[in-house]
Amino acid sequence: MDVFEAIRTRRSVHKYADKPVDWDKVVTILEAGKFAPNAGNLSNFKFITIRDEDARKKIANACLQQHWMAQAPVHIAIVSEPEKSRRFYGVRGERFYTIQDCAAAIENMLLTAHSLGLGSCWVGAFQEEKLRELLQLPESIMIHAVIVIGYAAEKPVMPPKYRIEHYVFLEKWGQKKNIPFSSMGWWSVRTEKAVREAGKKLKEQQEFLVSALPGVGLQTAKLLLEHFGSVRALVNASPEEITKIKGVGEKTAEKLIKMFGEEYKVL
Ligand SMILES: Cc1cc2nc3c(=O)[nH]c(=O)nc-3n(C[C@H](O)[C@H](O)[C@H](O)COP(=O)(O)O)c2cc1C
Repeated sequence: MDVFEAIRTRRSVHKYADKPVDWDKVVTILEAGKFAPNAGNLSNFKFITIRDEDARKKIANACLQQHWMAQAPVHIAIVSEPEKSRRFYGVRGERFYTIQDCAAAIENMLLTAHSLGLGSCWVGAFQEEKLRELLQLPESIMIHAVIVIGYAAEKPVMPPKYRIEHYVFLEKWGQKKNIPFSSMGWWSVRTEKAVREAGKKLKEQQEFLVSALPGVGLQTAKLLLEHFGSVRALVNASPEEITKIKGVGEKTAEKLIKMFGEEYKVL
């Protein structure tokens, strides 16, 4: 799995199978945290790894009764010593770098878990004092998150995400003028790659559409490709063109217009 694929397909998992995770895999995940970029290479993070079932139940309870967490056989609490960063970088180190260092480590760990076939979830909602007591943390230690890891017993769908142009300004705050949108948006790295891999074969393009467009079946995919000739042309279609496709119902057309014509991004 390449990095972008791992980033795109990682999901927060809330249901876990009753299956242990090999310690070697846990260590790989911890290593991934270690390799995260961090201010001044101070490596100001510690990963408290919890496997005991009773302890996991108590942690789930301390995380505002997120009881589902206890199913995951591994919990990792990410903590830091803000004072250590303060010594080097003052308030900026204490308040800013410490948090960013730990966030980078967490994301590395989640992606690595995913690449190893494991599900995970970042949990930031917790009662600090309860967790502090459970993990026996001295006052000087800051808790950033608990991540849970295990074999997923669900396949969460991707939550809605905005199209890329929603997030991007060019050169300065607020500037959207002159962004080459044709190479952004829904038609982006993922689509480009999928279509390239499909080798322009019609059947594969049909299958790609079925997998990529929620609610679109094979019959509709065929109609869309017959009408537009390619995935690229479909993606760039105007709402008027979409409503003209013969055999595609009003509701499906509305959905397609929403996907391609508006800001909201479903993929
Ligand atoms: C700082 C932070 C705190 C979070 N806290 C929780 C949490 O307490 N419980 C939970 O179920 N998910 C939590 N999440 C996961 C988000 O809900 C999830 O990443 C988001 O809904 C997007 O879904 P995805 O991860 O599947 O893309 C947290 C994520 C972040 C970055």
